[in-house]
Amino acid sequence: MRTAFGRYTIHIAPDATLALPAVLDAAGVPERRFIVSSPAVWRLHGDRFRKLTGDEPILIPDGERYKHLGTVGRIYDALIRAAADRAAAIVAVGGGVVGDVAGFAAATFLRGLPLVQVPTTLLAQVDSSVGGKVGVNHVMGKNLIGAFYPPSAVVIDPGLLATLPRREFRAGLYEVVKYGAIASRPLFDRLVSDLPRLFAHDAAVLMPMIAESCRIKAEIVEQDERETGLRRTLNFGHTAGHALESLTRYRRFRHGEAVAYGMLVAADLAVARGLLRAAERDRLAALIMQMGPLPQVGDLSAADVLEAASRDKKVIAGQLHVVLPTAIGATVIVNDVTEEELRDSLVHIGLRAGPAEEHGD
Ligand SMILES: NC(=O)c1ccc[n+]([C@@H]2O[C@H](COP(=O)([O-])OP(=O)(O)OC[C@H]3O[C@@H](n4cnc5c(N)ncnc54)[C@H](O)[C@@H]3O)[C@@H](O)[C@H]2O)c1
Ligand SMILES: [Zn+2]
Repeated sequence: MRTAFGRYTIHIAPDATLALPAVLDAAGVPERRFIVSSPAVWRLHGDRFRKLTGDEPILIPDGERYKHLGTVGRIYDALIRAAADRAAAIVAVGGGVVGDVAGFAAATFLRGLPLVQVPTTLLAQVDSSVGGKVGVNHVMGKNLIGAFYPPSAVVIDPGLLATLPRREFRAGLYEVVKYGAIASRPLFDRLVSDLPRLFAHDAAVLMPMIAESCRIKAEIVEQDERETGLRRTLNFGHTAGHALESLTRYRRFRHGEAVAYGMLVAADLAVARGLLRAAERDRLAALIMQMGPLPQVGDLSAADVLEAASRDKKVIAGQLHVVLPTAIGATVIVNDVTEEELRDSLVHIGLRAGPAEEHGD
């Protein structure tokens, strides 16, 4: 499948990575191609990419804690040592961390080298590789340093997911739930009915699900590349989600897991406001529960989450913009959510109303 989107094409096919050289030639990607990957991903899948380039891969560690300028610097060092010039391109092979870090290096080295994204996690295949955002964290906050830098191509091979740990797979699936919840009731309903086949990595359901997710994200981003309006709907579940992640110092939750809680909070708040029928919230909650266990939140305090939320990038001119569902497949963005409302919903999904227990993680 192909989705033409702005200046680049998203290729999704079983074994798409085996056709990579031809795809990159067709996209006009320069022939000197530097692969940036992580040792873990390269060990599992490096063989597929050896024919792409005569240059050694640039391997960077891919934990969230390595997503900083120091790692970008290591990529620059390797490029300079290999005498890379403007006739070179970067091919990012990995999860969202590799894609964001390598993408930022590509955006900035020699004022920009062509970039190809080859996402290897479900989250990266349905979310981070599409939309042209690249960047790294600063000690003071996540993704504070970055650029809008569309790739020359995105090549998605669902076969790469075969080696992905189940928890990572689930973490990506929550973002697919998000797409269904904000934009597509049919996608949501298919998730409900196809869940066992998805967990079995059945290509007949996995491929269309990834393609539909990319289509939804691409369509939204195309209309609002710089996130002034519509793109904000992609932040559904991310207000409370990001706050939960930062409060637990990015150690307890995979991003998607925190977003799953965030979606439950937003849905609860929407029901309390009379914007969403309780049955719709229950459908969303049932799907999330059906997908498997989430890390616990019972020791966290709603007040601490509120404080973390107030430091969020989604605070624009002092107002917190919150995406609320009005049905499965439809949302509204509001900017008048009160602390009390958020606190009540956080408590409803299981957080403490009182002070926190120690959470050293
Ligand atoms: N740019 C964007 O628009 C955007 C959107 C969403 C998320 N993100 C970013 O994406 C990052 C999260 O990405 P992620 O969830 O992919 O995490 P990740 O890149 O840390 O990868 C998760 C783990 O999976 C391993 N892995 C990767 N591919 C594998 C495979 N095929 N088989 C086995 N193991 C594999 C990695 O080694 C890593 O340990 C965050 O930093 C987030 O900020 C960016
Ligand atoms: Zn997300």
